[in-house]
Amino acid sequence: MSTHTTDVPDVVAAPPVTIRTATKRRYLMCRPTHFDVVYTINPWMHPEVPVDHDLVMQQWENLRRTYLDLGHDVEVIEGAPGLPDMVFAANGATVVDGRALAVNFRYAQRTDEAALYAAWLRADGIEVTDAVATNEGEGDFLTVGRRMLAGTGFRSDPASHVELAGATGLEVVTLELVDPSFYHIDTALAVLDDENIAYLPQAFSLAAHERLQELYPDAIHVSLEDASVFGLNAVSDGRNVVVAAQATQFIADLAAAGYHPVPVDLSELLKGGGGIKCCTLELRPAPVQS
Ligand code: ARG
Repeated sequence: MSTHTTDVPDVVAAPPVTIRTATKRRYLMCRPTHFDVVYTINPWMHPEVPVDHDLVMQQWENLRRTYLDLGHDVEVIEGAPGLPDMVFAANGATVVDGRALAVNFRYAQRTDEAALYAAWLRADGIEVTDAVATNEGEGDFLTVGRRMLAGTGFRSDPASHVELAGATGLEVVTLELVDPSFYHIDTALAVLDDENIAYLPQAFSLAAHERLQELYPDAIHVSLEDASVFGLNAVSDGRNVVVAAQATQFIADLAAAGYHPVPVDLSELLKGGGGIKCCTLELRPAPVQS
């Protein structure tokens, strides 16, 4: 007779899986009819490398379709001739609680995009505050619940962080970027939901990294390899994370954390130094009055 009999079957405990919840979003995207690489304002841009215009259109349309299939609304602003970077709609504004802060671009090549985005938002009924200091919209201003993570170092001026706090009434945390390849905060940090983020630690100054560790001790740290295919330039609805298909380890980490990664290939846009998030401006509605 065995001395080890027991009534309880031997089971291996499964790791706890957090349930993630999606919320419906409204996005603005700019059709890449006029996308091209004809100047260099970030290290990814090489005007001598040709852009495949048909492929850009296909990849962009596939991204739009992906959002629609996930149940989100997608608005489209047409691009304008002579503004080859206008496809990067995240740089068009920052929209929180149904109100927008306009942008003011660092480089002259993009200056004229600002008024086109502001006009689209106003026509949509969104109140727009003009920007004084240089800010490049959601490229540098990420919303994490009721907190804004604001990048500086390459594009947006620290003075714009004060304007952002004034325009939104939210807490704004200034984070300094130090690697020119990750010149906007949305290339170095992804917002997964109201509490969780993923980021590339070495893209931030020591002080900024320490601040992130304090605020988000459970953040996913992403490798340079995955960040270099713009894996962090991702868009999440709280559960579904639309992410560069090439960021394989990050995709595995997202799945392990209970998210549903939705891989999308935007390789042709990377020639302009942009990816999924860069092509997507979130239009956050006014809070429902109680
Ligand atoms: N070529 C554009 C620039 O350098 C790319 C912008 C990418 N946008 C972004 N949100 N990271 O301004």
